[in-house]
Amino acid sequence: MTTCILTGMVVHGAEVDAMALFACSHCDAQSQKWSGRCVECGSWGTLGAAPEQSALVTTKQKTQAAVAHVPAGKTIPFTTKAAVHVERMKTGINEVDRVFGGGIVPGSLMLLGGDPGIGKSTLVAQIAGALKNTVLYVSGEESFEQVQMRFDRLGIDQKYISFLPEEQVEIICKTVQEQKPAFVIIDSIQTVATAAVESEPGSVQQIKASTVRFLEVAKSSRIPMLLIGHVTKGGELGGPKTLEHIVDVVCYLEGDSTHQFRVLRSAKNRFGSTAEVGIFEMQNKGLQEVSNPSERLMKEREQHAGSIVGCVVEGSRVLLVEVQALVNRTAFGFPQRKASGFDLNRLHVLLAVLHKRAHIDLSQHDVYVNLVGGMRMDDPALDLAVCAAIVSALYDVVADQKTIVWGEVGLSGEVRTAPHESQRLSEGKRFGCTHPIYRKTSATIDAALRDAQLLKVKSSVRSS
Ligand code: TYD
Ligand code: MG
Repeated sequence: MTTCILTGMVVHGAEVDAMALFACSHCDAQSQKWSGRCVECGSWGTLGAAPEQSALVTTKQKTQAAVAHVPAGKTIPFTTKAAVHVERMKTGINEVDRVFGGGIVPGSLMLLGGDPGIGKSTLVAQIAGALKNTVLYVSGEESFEQVQMRFDRLGIDQKYISFLPEEQVEIICKTVQEQKPAFVIIDSIQTVATAAVESEPGSVQQIKASTVRFLEVAKSSRIPMLLIGHVTKGGELGGPKTLEHIVDVVCYLEGDSTHQFRVLRSAKNRFGSTAEVGIFEMQNKGLQEVSNPSERLMKEREQHAGSIVGCVVEGSRVLLVEVQALVNRTAFGFPQRKASGFDLNRLHVLLAVLHKRAHIDLSQHDVYVNLVGGMRMDDPALDLAVCAAIVSALYDVVADQKTIVWGEVGLSGEVRTAPHESQRLSEGKRFGCTHPIYRKTSATIDAALRDAQLLKVKSSVRSS
């Protein structure tokens, strides 16, 4: 124990030496100086002595000696037929299978991320029940009673499911290798810890080391495993983002926990497309599949100024969405811009395009945009619908009930072609939206707004 000359603090377990390096046990950041708080990750009391340089040198020498006599690897020509036929295991929940690329691949390691309370444990419980195959449910954060209560509430047949309340990675892996279940669920990766790493559960090193261990077991035993990971507020440190390159499949359950809709989106899939989404509704009996989302999203729609029907394509799904905008004169200070379900930066760009290309000045107005249903949508074809909703709100003009709007808006004010036009047209028709405004009907944003009868005067008159 030594007192640091600069800070006057007592340094535990680390000698104060000008050349010594200190390492954070949480994020592995290194520094020349000891401090109570890691400057990289902000954790308190995690800085300790880093491994000594001499130790590193011996490791390097050992590695060099080890690689000096290794034989060359054995290559396999692709003309050889793979010995094992890969058959995907269906979960029995269509929306989940679609996102997984047709089912679970044997030996794959999957990660399900999402905000706390969004419904991850609910979804995995439903998958465990629907599989109708042996499932090992490992939980480090919930007790057997809590998990069973959820299973009971969801009406899940627990015949094939066994529970393991465990946090030690080595014990979990041993259980998996001995019991050989068809599927393993780990709720959550933040609560487990491996003895190979000293840092506390939930730290980046622990999460990474534990995941690598699970990966080894999943690959060697061909038992698929699903890890649950909470996304931290920033989405990076301690969150599943750090694991994306290790695992085979990464899915995120998104949505607004105050709304009913949840979207299961795949961010990475080594065995399938990442374009697909699964749409669910959180109800009393868990997450229910929504096979006809347009109908749900359009159900309570009423005609009023600032409301426009847009059309988005998510994977193989075409959905109609209601885009709402509210435009108010700014009372004080900078104008406010808020977007829910739509990218705020994109909203800023669209307002600039409206100003420059369509001469609609909103610099003295607060603008709020909302996608009804609490879902986040990334389809650029929403651009034109957002612009139309803003203009409809600004001029207090109600759009015709049959109008449907889609198209990406370019910086020159041009309306660009969106893919899957025929599907969008037919989905619109299904809901009585027979007046489409898109690239083929209107090539510029100005023309589109006039076609939608939201602008009655020519832009030259408005700008003067
Ligand atoms: P949970 O799956 O525990 O979230 P996570 O594992 O992502 O933290 O559940 C989240 C919320 O879902 C919880 O607040 C209660 C709600 N819920 C329902 O509305 N219906 C249900 O049938 C269940 C099981 C949960
Ligand atoms: Mg949970």
